[in-house]
Amino acid sequence: MKFKLPNLPLSSLKTLPLKPKSQMASLLTAAEPQTRIPHPSEDLDDVLCSAQQLAEQQQLDLAETAPLRSLSGESRIERAWAHWTKLGRPKLIVAPMVDNSELPFRMLCRKYGADAAYTPMLHSRIFTETEKYRNQEFTTCKEDRPLFVQFCANDPEVLLEAAKRVEPYCDYVDINLGCPQRIARRGNYGAFLMDKLPLVKSLVENLVANLYVPVSCKIRIFPNLDDTIQYARMLEDAGCSLLAVHGRTRDEKDQKKVRANWDAIKAVKNSVKIPVIANGNIRHLDDAHDCLKYTGADGVLSAESLLENPALFAGFRTAEWVEEGEECNKDRKLDQADLLVEYLKLCEQYPVPWRMIRAHVHKMLGDWFRMHPHVREDFNAQHILTFEFLYNMVDRLRELGKGTPLHLKDTNGASIAANGLAVSAV
Ligand SMILES: Cc1cc2nc3c(=O)[nH]c(=O)nc-3n(C[C@H](O)[C@H](O)[C@H](O)COP(=O)(O)O)c2cc1C
Repeated sequence: MKFKLPNLPLSSLKTLPLKPKSQMASLLTAAEPQTRIPHPSEDLDDVLCSAQQLAEQQQLDLAETAPLRSLSGESRIERAWAHWTKLGRPKLIVAPMVDNSELPFRMLCRKYGADAAYTPMLHSRIFTETEKYRNQEFTTCKEDRPLFVQFCANDPEVLLEAAKRVEPYCDYVDINLGCPQRIARRGNYGAFLMDKLPLVKSLVENLVANLYVPVSCKIRIFPNLDDTIQYARMLEDAGCSLLAVHGRTRDEKDQKKVRANWDAIKAVKNSVKIPVIANGNIRHLDDAHDCLKYTGADGVLSAESLLENPALFAGFRTAEWVEEGEECNKDRKLDQADLLVEYLKLCEQYPVPWRMIRAHVHKMLGDWFRMHPHVREDFNAQHILTFEFLYNMVDRLRELGKGTPLHLKDTNGASIAANGLAVSAV
């Protein structure tokens, strides 16, 4: 049955991913758990059908998913909250991380308490041009929701084309407005767009006018609070449905040395009406509770600390964050090597490039490697990795001993579920 779409420009329809309904469904079954995004086609009948599938798949009706362009400011805000609520108001969220927040890592974090996750930043131009890049850098599966797919961009039409390809598989298309690295300066994206706000506005507006899924932005703060607030309001007015605020400026690149500014995040939260996510200084679950309370934000992101400890959102913490005399539940033994083994199994299920696996091995086994540097040297010397080598390496480290279990603190926000995991009640 065909489905009539209200006010949908043909130009946007043509870029919708197209698959006959039966194939589209099979993309999301357990038999083929990992989704590779399909190619666009030009057939309008198929297009209309696939728009319906998109709506069905996301269990939304088209009235709710139609692009936002015709709505007034207040209706947009209502829609932003309705969507957020439909997703269960996720609070504990895996931050976007190039080469690090890929599917198996997201799935591991979800198992240990993450309510939602971002993909790594994808380069919108390369994404539209290169099939290999798309297939390698963006994979997902049915259980990988709620999901933010993040792009960097500086061309509204290119960004839209990239976004159209992923919108059936995600809950937000996110724009990276915070990357402070030299590569972003050279490529004219990320935090360097803070000098080109009219361009930022057009990136957001064009997506909002043509996508079914809401648009979110991840920003850094300006040195001046008023500028930050104006920036956040501009994004909201442009149709952004959710704002993640990293409480550091573009020049504050070393997140271990510079504490994030929660006051600035709080000020943004108080200045806009859309959901706001706080980012910075979330090293364990207590930080998440404190940040939510202090800033009034609707959720938190964690990045670096999650890489070392993907069970952070379930209440586990590394020894570094255990305070003297703190009551910890030491019976529930889980260590970083256990988490790495779980991650490797997920990588066997959902293949990813070895460079990503390598990065996670270094992060999760960092403490063990410091104690047994010769094991790290052997690992680094392996130009071609295999799962067998990695499982054996974990066994070897265990035999060498001294792995420290993660500590599980039963905070007032987390309770222990029957499966032994902490269930967050933030
Ligand atoms: C390895 C790594 C990769 C990152 N890649 C991205 C990215 O792709 N997009 C993005 O918006 N931020 C990226 N970031 C920044 C984080 O999302 C986050 O804003 C920052 O690390 C601050 O959070 P934290 O204090 O919890 O680490 C990355 C951070 C790390 C450590």
